[in-house]
Amino acid sequence: MTGAGASSARVVMERCELLAACSDEPGAITRPFASAAMRRAHELVGAWMRESGMSVRRDQVGNLRGRYEGSGEATLLLGSHLDSVRNAGRYDGPLGVMVAIAAVERLQIAGKRLPFAIEVLAFADEEGLRFGTTYLGSRALAGSLEPVELERRDAHGLTVAGAVQSFGGDPARIEEDRWSGPKPLGYVEVHIEQGPVLEARGLPVGVVSAIAGQNRFSISFQSEAGHAGTVPMDRRRDALVVAAMFVIAVEQEARAHQGLVATVGKLEVQAGAANVIPGRVDLSLDVRHPDDSIRLEACRRMLADAHGLGDSRGVAVQVRPLGENAAVPCAPRLVSLLTRAAEDCGQDAIQLPSGAGHDAVALSSLTDIGMLFVRCKGGVSHHPAESAAVEDVAVAIDVLGRFLELVGQP
Ligand code: HGY
Ligand code: MN
Ligand code: MN
Repeated sequence: MTGAGASSARVVMERCELLAACSDEPGAITRPFASAAMRRAHELVGAWMRESGMSVRRDQVGNLRGRYEGSGEATLLLGSHLDSVRNAGRYDGPLGVMVAIAAVERLQIAGKRLPFAIEVLAFADEEGLRFGTTYLGSRALAGSLEPVELERRDAHGLTVAGAVQSFGGDPARIEEDRWSGPKPLGYVEVHIEQGPVLEARGLPVGVVSAIAGQNRFSISFQSEAGHAGTVPMDRRRDALVVAAMFVIAVEQEARAHQGLVATVGKLEVQAGAANVIPGRVDLSLDVRHPDDSIRLEACRRMLADAHGLGDSRGVAVQVRPLGENAAVPCAPRLVSLLTRAAEDCGQDAIQLPSGAGHDAVALSSLTDIGMLFVRCKGGVSHHPAESAAVEDVAVAIDVLGRFLELVGQP
């Protein structure tokens, strides 16, 4: 690997490494929305954006936005997110922001200006780790963030509005984050695949065709706690037993339908003591499928299971929807330009769907969206073992650079 692509790919990897150290959890990568870790990440990314010839600003909700002016009125949006899940990998999010900066850096080094501006967006909250939300930052830009969501509270009881304020934003002015210029030319996000397809096909990059729809719920199973030693088994209303039966039912339902995935990723037991019969369990449910009708029918059945199981054991069940996103197709125009750019860079450009959600989902209400996937080792993600190869990152930078040239062609 030689030449400009190589050095910028190495720089991208080094920067992802530096960002990995921006964490609220020593020994792990955990970078929540509006956190001290995010503040440190902004210092780094803001400097890299400025060094690449971009003007930089942080908007009210906490997105970092770098702008590289062009000769025309229009703007092309690039980017991804800087927040992470708990104990995350180093590439989910940051890779897309760093590759976008690398593509702009190349233009700056070449002294080039395109017939459109480029805005690189480092989104504040794609994962929803802190508030259970999704796409807080990208939805603020798309203008689809509801004011009521600013009242959501984190585990410490702080609201989204409070977190925005503590991060230096004004929650009363988040409306100003909404995109206000001419409709963008599109939004293109580079992201690790987080799945096994590219590796199985021996390909460094792939073009995303569509992003699966998803529902997220918080479900509470509530009864009353009891003494583990004195309450006979036939007189118990054990909330954890019902929750456990529900988790099994969810897995059976998902296995029964091709392409359906459902996950209970969080489960909290109260009182959480060895000698107390659980009186309350709170768990998360994440349901996804490329076809919206299949996903919605699966949600209906799973929630009916929850209530049925609760009724059978005298345990009350409360369901709180946390969010829903319909499946989103990538714009054919951008899919074909990204495909052509990959081919011009000597790559087989397969198209593949994304089971993972991305900020592109939120941006799809504002403009055309496109995504370029980068192979990741074993498809592992949301895990410290997440890994991408510098050679594949070099290909992604070349393809994005070629894509920018094609977009700029009359
Ligand atoms: O959950 C997702 O699909 C994304 O990583 N937020
Ligand atoms: Mn993720
Ligand atoms: Mn991501």
